[in-house]
Amino acid sequence: MNKKMLIYKIAVAVAVVALAVVLLTALVRKKDTYYHLQNRGDLGPLTRSDITYLDVAAPSETNYDGTITAASWRSIYPEIADSMDANGNNTAVVDYLEQDPYLVNIYDNYGFSKDYGSARGHAFTLVDVAKTERPHATANCLTCKTPNFAKLVQDQGVGVYTMDFNEVYDQINANGEAISCYTCHGNEAGSKGKLMVTHEYVGKALGENVRTIDPGTLSCGQCHIEYYFTAVDGNGDGKLDAETMMPYHSIEEMSPEKILAYYEAAPNKDGGVGFYDWIQPGTGTHMLKAQHPEMETVLSGSHAARSCADCHMEITMAEDGTTYHSHELISPLSSPTILAGCAECHENKTPDEMIQFVRNTQSRVTARETEVGNKLSELKDALTEAVEAGKMSESQLDAVRQLHREAQWFFDFCYVENSEGAHSINLTTRCLNTAEARIEEAMQLLGK
Ligand code: HEC
Ligand code: HEC
Ligand code: HEC
Ligand code: HEC
Repeated sequence: MNKKMLIYKIAVAVAVVALAVVLLTALVRKKDTYYHLQNRGDLGPLTRSDITYLDVAAPSETNYDGTITAASWRSIYPEIADSMDANGNNTAVVDYLEQDPYLVNIYDNYGFSKDYGSARGHAFTLVDVAKTERPHATANCLTCKTPNFAKLVQDQGVGVYTMDFNEVYDQINANGEAISCYTCHGNEAGSKGKLMVTHEYVGKALGENVRTIDPGTLSCGQCHIEYYFTAVDGNGDGKLDAETMMPYHSIEEMSPEKILAYYEAAPNKDGGVGFYDWIQPGTGTHMLKAQHPEMETVLSGSHAARSCADCHMEITMAEDGTTYHSHELISPLSSPTILAGCAECHENKTPDEMIQFVRNTQSRVTARETEVGNKLSELKDALTEAVEAGKMSESQLDAVRQLHREAQWFFDFCYVENSEGAHSINLTTRCLNTAEARIEEAMQLLGK
C-alpha cells in the first residue's frame, strides 16, 4: 500500500467516525427536550445550555400530604439531591446581638432583642425555628421553613396561619421536610425541572406581575423578601387572620419608601390604620420590623438582570458528564465558575480582585451600619428620657415617634438584608442616609 492510499484510508475512516458522532449527537439531542425559562436575558459565558433537561415522570410515591420528597426524587436526580443535602454543611452562625450590641436596645421588647443570629443552610430551618428564643404562638412562623406548611395552606386555606404553632410543628417535624424540592418545583421537578411558586401569597400579592420576575429569582423570593402578618379579621370570628403577605403588588412598589407608605395605610391590630409589629417600651414608638428584603434589594440594583440562581447556584458537572445546577446555595465568592461570570460585566477584574471588590463594598456598608445603628440607639434613649420628663406634649412626642419609626424602618431594611451591600450599594446607602436624616431631625425636635 503506498503512502497516498494510507492517507486516503485514514481520511475516510476519520470522516466516517465524525459523521457517526454528528448523527449520534443529533439523535440524542432530538430525544432530549431543552428547557427555557422566560424573562431570562443574555446568559453569556454561563453554561446553562450545557444542561440536558429531562422530561421524566415524577416518582409515584408521595409523602403524607401529597408532596414528593427529596428522598423520592433522589433516584432520578441523585446529583441534585446530594447537592441540596450540602446545605447542611454550613453550620456557622454569627450572633448579631454580640457583634452589634446596639441592636439589643433598638429591638427592645421584641423577639430579636433576645435572639438574633445569622442565617445558615436551608437544611436547618426546622431545627432553628424550634430552638429560637423568639416567641412564636401561631403556625405562620413556619411559612418559610418547610414545603409541608405551604402545602397545608394550599389544602386548607389561610386559617392555617393562626393554628397553634406546636400542633402544626409537631406533625411536620415528624413527617415532613425542611425546604425541599416541592418548595421551588411543586411536584413537577421531573418535568424539565420546571420552577413553581408554591407559596400562595406570592400570587395573591403580585397577581399577573409574577411574570415580570425571573423564575430563578422568584423561587427564592417566596421567602427572601420583606413580608408581614396581616392584622385583619377577614371572617369576623374576632381573631386576626395573621396571613403571611407581601407589602406590594409590583417591582415598582418594592422600594423601602413605597413599602413604608403601604404600611402607613394598612390596618393594625388596634383596628386603626398604620401597621406596626410592636410598641417599643420607653419611647412608645409603633415600630416596624423589616424581614430580609433580598429580592427587593437585588431587583432595585445593578444586578436586577441576574437571577439569584445565577449568582448562588453553581453550574457544575459530575464525573459522568451530567451537567446541572448545584442546589447548594453558596456565596458566589467561593465559586470560581460563578466569579468567572462576574467578569462579563466587571471587565477588568480577576476572581481575586472581584472578591476584594465585594469585601470592600461590604466593609464600607457595615461601618456605616454601626455608625447609624448607634445613633438610632441614642435617639431611643433621648426619646425615652423626654417621655419620662413629661415636658413635651403628646402631639410633640408623636412627631418625634413618627421620625423614630421611619428612621428604624430604613435602618432595618438595610441591616437585615443579608448581603451587606453586595446586592445593591445604592439602595443600602440610601436607606442608611435616610435613617440618619430622620434621626437628626428627631434629635432636633428633642432639643439635642
Ligand atoms: C421556603 C423559604 C425559602 C426559599 C424558597 C429559599 N430560602 Fe434561602 N433561606 C431560608 C431560610 C429560612 C434561611 C435561614 C435558615 C436558617 O438559618 O435556619 C435561608 C438561608 C439562605 C442562605 C444562607 C445560607 C448560609 O449557609 O449562610 C442563602 C445563601 C439562601 N438562603 C439563598 C437562597 C436562594 C438562592 C434561594 C433560591 C434558589 C433560596 N434561598 C430560597 C428560606 C428560603
Ligand atoms: C450579582 C450576583 C448576585 C445576585 C444576582 C444575588 N446575589 Fe445574593 N449575594 C451576592 C454576593 C456577592 C453576596 C455576598 C457573599 C459573601 O459575603 O460571601 C451575596 C449574599 C447573599 C446572602 C447572604 C449569604 C450568607 O451566607 O449570609 C443571601 C441570603 C443572598 N445573597 C440571597 C440572594 C437572593 C435571594 C437573591 C435573589 C433575589 C440573590 N442573593 C441575588 C451576589 C448575588
Ligand atoms: C430553593 C429552591 C429550590 C429547591 C429547594 C430545589 N430546586 Fe431545583 N432548581 C431551582 C432553581 C432556581 C433551578 C435553576 C433554574 C435556572 O436558573 O435555570 C433549579 C433547577 C432544577 C432542575 C433543572 C436542571 C438544572 O440543574 O438546572 C431540576 C431537574 C431540579 N432543579 C430538580 C430539583 C430536585 C429534584 C430538588 C430536590 C432534591 C430541587 N430541585 C430542589 C430551585 C430549587
Ligand atoms: C449583568 C452585568 C453584571 C454582572 C454579571 C455582575 N455585575 Fe456586579 N455590578 C454591575 C454593575 C453595572 C454595577 C454598578 C457599577 C459598578 O460598580 O461597576 C455592579 C456593581 C457591583 C458591586 C458593588 C455594589 C453595587 O451595587 O454597585 C458588587 C459588590 C458587585 N457588582 C458584585 C458582583 C459579583 C460578585 C458578581 C458575580 C457573582 C457580579 N457583580 C456580576 C453589573 C454586573
